[in-house]
Amino acid sequence: MKKHNFNAGPSILPDEVIRKAAEAIVDFNGSGLSLLSISHRTKDFDEVMAEADSLFRELLNIPDNYKIFYIGGGASTMFYEVAANFLGKKAGYVNTGVWSKKAIKEAKRYGEVEVLAASDDRNFTYIPKGFAIPEDLDYLHITTNNTIYGTEYHEDLSSPVPLIADMSSDILSRPVDVTKYAMIYGGAQKNLAPAGVVFAIIREDMLDKIVRDLPTMVSFRTHVENNSMFNTPPVFPIYVLKETLKWLKSIGGVPEIYRRNVEKAQLLYDEIDRNPLFRGTVEKADRSLMNICFVMAEGYEELAPEFLEFAKERGMVGIKGHRLVGGFRASCYNALPKESVEALVACMREFEKLHVK
Ligand SMILES: Cc1ncc(COP(=O)(O)O)c(C=O)c1O
Repeated sequence: MKKHNFNAGPSILPDEVIRKAAEAIVDFNGSGLSLLSISHRTKDFDEVMAEADSLFRELLNIPDNYKIFYIGGGASTMFYEVAANFLGKKAGYVNTGVWSKKAIKEAKRYGEVEVLAASDDRNFTYIPKGFAIPEDLDYLHITTNNTIYGTEYHEDLSSPVPLIADMSSDILSRPVDVTKYAMIYGGAQKNLAPAGVVFAIIREDMLDKIVRDLPTMVSFRTHVENNSMFNTPPVFPIYVLKETLKWLKSIGGVPEIYRRNVEKAQLLYDEIDRNPLFRGTVEKADRSLMNICFVMAEGYEELAPEFLEFAKERGMVGIKGHRLVGGFRASCYNALPKESVEALVACMREFEKLHVK
């Protein structure tokens, strides 16, 4: 049976990228050696790094005064590293859910954190807007897509202080004006690669704003100045990231993937809104294109386990909602084909016929 992969992360990658990765594991660039057993300091791997850099720049329109670097770890590594590098006195954070909260907790180790806005009053079902941003902050930190709750910023914020964004779960899924951000980072294991690497896009002048003497590996300057080669980088995830960027370019880049993502999300949200058995959990204006959360409608709550089983029998994988929200979450990352969303919608309709007379 065909599987429809709605996993929240690690998650679906394009078939052809997986195939390329498998080939490179067996024989990298016709070298007779596996990608897993070559030195990162080789011409072949230099080319992987250079190609990833130029594709990233092209796809996201990243200006020359921004540097891209990679470190091993996850977005959670950045929660403390961002603060270690830039939080001297006070930073602003917007609390839009679990990942923001974790970032706030780590930042507090380094200085004062002012939570400028939060959506915890309604279980993180919306993105706070129109809050004031004091000008004396070292930076403002936001989480652009809230993977667990299914909310997303649909506009780039304008900030008088350096804006730093965790884009783990929506990087390259929609157009972004990079110039509005001082730094963008994320774990790569949703739209880009397997787990193990963090990408970072940083405006060069931020390197002069590092506020303390740091361990070499924690300082962003180390990774920028050494082109992510100060130590051994996560070679395999970076290779897969490069192949994913190539795939994205081949299908038409960010404008095309955004068109596809809007189309997929529309299809599923329309069904959630139409089908009397289900309801969406977040404010419509802030609905995520990537993580689509829904629950059984009032009166049908006890059908949730049955629907999960029903969907599983029809090939749906990973649609159980996070325990903090309950219900269902269909993650519709870049590589998820429209056919998978259509299959889920068909499944919801079939379930409706069984239960709504
Ligand atoms: C938005 C966001 N930020 C941070 C994280 C944590 O990432 P990692 O597991 O790479 O540390 C996640 C993981 O799902 C996430 O979705």
